[in-house]
Amino acid sequence: MENGKKISVAIDGPSGAGKSTIARRAAQNLGFVYVDTGAIYRTVGYHTYCSGVDPVDKKAVAALLPGLRVSMDYGEGGLQRMYRNGEDVTDQIRLPEVSMITSHISAIPEVRAFLLEMQRHMAREYSVVMDGRDIGTVVLPDADVKIFLTASTEDRARRRYKELLERGTPQSLEELLRETEERDYNDSHRAVSPLRPADGAVLLDTTGNTFEQSLHQILAIIKERTGL
Ligand code: DC
Repeated sequence: MENGKKISVAIDGPSGAGKSTIARRAAQNLGFVYVDTGAIYRTVGYHTYCSGVDPVDKKAVAALLPGLRVSMDYGEGGLQRMYRNGEDVTDQIRLPEVSMITSHISAIPEVRAFLLEMQRHMAREYSVVMDGRDIGTVVLPDADVKIFLTASTEDRARRRYKELLERGTPQSLEELLRETEERDYNDSHRAVSPLRPADGAVLLDTTGNTFEQSLHQILAIIKERTGL
């Protein structure tokens, strides 16, 4: 794949729809690089958290960016590791506080502009399955395949509940439902790059699906669209 045409698959959708797990496995299956852009935004969220700056203070957050270098590489099993000024913050970016802060800072145009080239660079260098909120609409508008992956709010909150329980940092389902709704609202009502299906995106609703069913469906869409 080094010199041939690079193929890009854009997967967008709300948080908790299972995007990252499905996208990672689809990328593995196809021999593509998986790019988790949520993790890239979360690194800026974590930086904001460490700086003690109010995440809704747009000017203050934008002023943090010149002092931040975001980088990434891939560890065992294709795990995307994130670095904040060279420090590995792969685990820290998953803290619940960081999720909420990231939902605010990702609405700031300067933050989005700061991270845009990094994402496009990955798609120029490699065949990718890239997931996020604006991949098909803004980052890779010419992606070969665009998929909008969603599931009901309850399904998404329940998935997150299980995930946090397994990770040993449980949160109540009620709280997670509220957080899911709040993040959905933030993600789809912001002025820049709001979450919405891209033109030409295939809509995939995974409510009630098993993981294997969703993976199977997504691979079928990708293969049909690319002729792979
Ligand atoms: O997918 P995630 O939950 O890890 O994303 C974390 C936050 O980053 C979420 O609030 C939405 C935001 N985000 C974004 O605005 N644009 C992207 N391409 C990816 C994530």
